[in-house]
Amino acid sequence: MLWIKSLHVIFMVTWFAGLFYLPRVFVYHAMSDQNNAAQMDTFKVMERKLLAITNLGALLTIIFGTLLLIVWLPSLIFLTWMQLKLVLVLGLFGYHLYCAKLVRIFRDDRNTHSHVWYRWFNEIPVAFLAGIVILVIVRPLN
Ligand code: HEM
Repeated sequence: MLWIKSLHVIFMVTWFAGLFYLPRVFVYHAMSDQNNAAQMDTFKVMERKLLAITNLGALLTIIFGTLLLIVWLPSLIFLTWMQLKLVLVLGLFGYHLYCAKLVRIFRDDRNTHSHVWYRWFNEIPVAFLAGIVILVIVRPLN
């Protein structure tokens, strides 16, 4: 089980690396000269590849987390901290899906948000990370 838990945490870090870096690329993409086609294409390739790695991180975190929960620790599902964690994971997944939508919007040159908007948007995963890690480690609720 400890091997699976390690894999769960390793891929969680991969997932978050993507969720922190992808919106950062959106900031630079939104700041740069929209008429510079070569530069736009570079950002589009970065966003597409980064999203692929982020998708893989999400998929494997969820697979290993679900495996832990179902096979080794089914009783945790009745505890409030775990239920709250799963609600936050759902919210995080919503953020991820919205990032995927933004990648398509940038790909089609349809972005309307400013770089300042993306800077604030970039802060959202910090709250999810802090909330989930505190719930899992501190277990402030039963
Ligand atoms: C469907 C998604 C997920 C499921 C079903 C799940 C389930 C689990 C389970 C059952 C454990 C073992 C808990 C224990 O041993 O007490 C665990 C550990 C952990 N999870 Fe998740 N998890 C999910 C997503 C996440 C996400 C998104 C994060 C990060 C933000 C995360 C962070 C952690 C950490 C840091 C641990 C290790 C805690 C320890 O030291 O024991 N998990 N997860």
